[in-house]
Amino acid sequence: MKITVNGRSHDVDAPAEMPLLWVLRDELQITGVKYGCGIAQCGACTVHVDGEAVRSCQLAIGDLEGDVTTIEGLGTPDALHFIQEAWIEHQVAQCGYCQSGQMMQAASLLSENPAPSDEDIDDAMSGNLCRCGTYPRIRAAVKSAAAKLEL
Ligand code: FES
Ligand code: FES
Repeated sequence: MKITVNGRSHDVDAPAEMPLLWVLRDELQITGVKYGCGIAQCGACTVHVDGEAVRSCQLAIGDLEGDVTTIEGLGTPDALHFIQEAWIEHQVAQCGYCQSGQMMQAASLLSENPAPSDEDIDDAMSGNLCRCGTYPRIRAAVKSAAAKLEL
């Protein structure tokens, strides 16, 4: 089947039931997306499908409808996405393992709600776990990114 990831079309030879996560990581070597739990409980595997945050561990490739964006496609090294800039500004990452999923979730939140309250942020981000406990910095970075959207 053909799938589009980060603006590039790929021919993928994989069983229809294979989760998108494994297609991205193992077939396409797009490894910014991470495996955490495999059961929709951690958010490490979050990518966008047509701009909406989805858990790629739970989406069978045969059910994919839409274009996929991963952290590699959110910005470029020369032109970071404003979420990535905010993450750097607030030095959010510790080990970093969860952070691509966190940023993809946050980008999706801000595309739907450009001025989220603390409660909105906590609600939207509650499914993305961080074992390093970076939650206060994540919230600060999301607020900082939202403030830039207002400019
Ligand atoms: S690996 Fe998909 S939610 Fe944890
Ligand atoms: S930064 Fe280590 S798990 Fe989140």
